[in-house]
Amino acid sequence: MSEKKRDPKQVRKDVSCDYTRAVTVSSCCGDNVPKGVVAKIAGYSTEELSSLPTDAVMNSFGCGNPLAFSEVKAGETVLDLGSGAGIDVLIASLKVGPKGKVIGVDMTDTMIQKARANIEAAGLKNAEIRKGIIEDLPVESSTVDWVISNCVINLSPEKSRVFVEIERVLKPGGTMMVSDIVAEKLPDEIAKDRSLYSSCLAGAISEVEYIEGLRSAGLEDVNVCERLVYDEDQLAEFMGSELKSDSTCGCCGSGPTDHSAKTASWAKELKGKIWSAKFRARKRFQTQFK
Ligand SMILES: C[S@@+](CC[C@H](N)C(=O)[O-])C[C@H]1O[C@@H](n2cnc3c(N)ncnc32)[C@H](O)[C@@H]1O
Repeated sequence: MSEKKRDPKQVRKDVSCDYTRAVTVSSCCGDNVPKGVVAKIAGYSTEELSSLPTDAVMNSFGCGNPLAFSEVKAGETVLDLGSGAGIDVLIASLKVGPKGKVIGVDMTDTMIQKARANIEAAGLKNAEIRKGIIEDLPVESSTVDWVISNCVINLSPEKSRVFVEIERVLKPGGTMMVSDIVAEKLPDEIAKDRSLYSSCLAGAISEVEYIEGLRSAGLEDVNVCERLVYDEDQLAEFMGSELKSDSTCGCCGSGPTDHSAKTASWAKELKGKIWSAKFRARKRFQTQFK
């Protein structure tokens, strides 16, 4: 798998800054950016969304519903990589019940604060958020039944490290269910754009690379169990809901590029080249000795 050449620490810093802006922009910059749009097209049911704190839904930036069709059971442990404001942590927490446990990991302080507040608002006692990076998870080896993630691994500048970490933390026989953006060859203008990286587009790899990465990390039964191919309008909405139209924000210093004029033409160009895929994989029951 080809990893991008930029300094991984700087990439994470930029992404974190952009997501801080994304959830604080209305208070610090007065920008009226639509939020929660993605949640509505990401495969959650109306019932699911209406049972959650509004803040978790409004600040959702996913591209699928990793828990849909999963067989998560009461008493199990679920780990959410890049938990954001906590939408999937909350849903998982209701599924595993009081005897189960949900851990969310995120690197962005503002997101962590939001997720913790949303867990408290929902009155859930079986969920916690840990600060850390998904390339070096603050989670013990072989301790979780499920690894889930929603539109996050595309943002990692070191995807192979993330795949190895998923294999490490899963219990033998444990399952990974990840919704993420995948892309066939993107035009250079898009692939090199920082704001579009943070918008989950420019850092996306192909389905084939994703599957190879998971297999190389030692995971088995790797497959794509669902695809959500965006039409032109959905792509424009997707880009519009993640990109900020302001040029500078007091929260993080310099702001992202203003793409509002280009969104429609990019949506047209990207149609059919970019979609959300749900990957499933399993950790082997036993280490195989050669
Ligand atoms: C697109 S949002 C998705 C949030 C959430 N999964 C959801 O569905 O709403 C990406 C989130 O992943 C976090 N993130 C991105 N790269 C990360 C990394 N390398 N390590 C930890 N968190 C990361 C960001 O801080 C942000 O909260």
